[in-house]
Amino acid sequence: MTKIENSTLGIVGAGSVGASLAYAALIRGSARHVRLFDINAPKVTSEVLDLAHGTQFTGSSDITGGTDIDVLTGANVVVITAGAKQKPGQTRLDLAATNAAMLRSLMPQLIERAPDAIYVLVTNPCDVLTMVAQEATGLPAQRVLSSGTVLDTSRLRWLLAKKAGVSTSSVHALIVGEHGDSEFPLWGSATIGQSPILDWVNPDGSRFSPAELDHIATDVRDAAYQVIRGKGATNYAIGLSGARIVEAILSDEGSILPVSTVLTDYQGVSGAALSVPCRVGSAGAIPVAGTPWGDEERRRLLASAEAVTDAYGKVAV
Ligand code: LAC
Repeated sequence: MTKIENSTLGIVGAGSVGASLAYAALIRGSARHVRLFDINAPKVTSEVLDLAHGTQFTGSSDITGGTDIDVLTGANVVVITAGAKQKPGQTRLDLAATNAAMLRSLMPQLIERAPDAIYVLVTNPCDVLTMVAQEATGLPAQRVLSSGTVLDTSRLRWLLAKKAGVSTSSVHALIVGEHGDSEFPLWGSATIGQSPILDWVNPDGSRFSPAELDHIATDVRDAAYQVIRGKGATNYAIGLSGARIVEAILSDEGSILPVSTVLTDYQGVSGAALSVPCRVGSAGAIPVAGTPWGDEERRRLLASAEAVTDAYGKVAV
């Protein structure tokens, strides 16, 4: 496993998520080449032009793309953002049937062009679609992952950091499970700096109470609904989350991120794709053992497994 030189990131879908991901990847230098594919010609052409016009200011990465899926040939990572998106009031799981059908016709075309790529599902419901893509391609589970709860974790860390008066990078706390309504925090291993979260003293002298932590977890779970109500979609934070995962893969970082893969015998879960702490590098995402799980956390992981397995059962062929 080594850093991929001269790397190519392929993005499927030039909607607000795909375009934001390309923008984030260019600014962060996540990949040497960024390739954007969409079936909507005016949209993809204009997004590529607009992004390319800014590359004087974004370092050495380049961007091209279009409506010919061959633009993705040889990509090292393919991120899939295409598909129907949530309307106000819809859950992510409500999108399963539409987006599973799209994915089933797309995956064989992608595999033909990028047989060695790591595949990252961003389209929702991302856990269910990870199961669909893995089953449709027969790829090893570690090579088919979804952005999962990387974004939810960032939302959690931001909320905790604001209250604690520290930087988000000093908050160590994870949201795991489904990227959706059954997700939950691993409070048992959450720390701020080196302090267990319940021991942390905020600038105003207060501590986090269990009720307040519950409230924060609910805000994280419902965050996307709030953004969708106001602007119709979420795009910037998911774009950044996707770019972060891509660079962990292409640079073979071995970063621990809560991405989702089809689990085998993980805390009692097999066959469901859920986010748990994974080592993310050029081989994809491998769940890490040794994270302490309490009984309640294990129960909630099983409930998440049930939610995504039920949704998958309705779209299985
Ligand atoms: C969100 C979408 C990407 O949580 O599911 O913003």
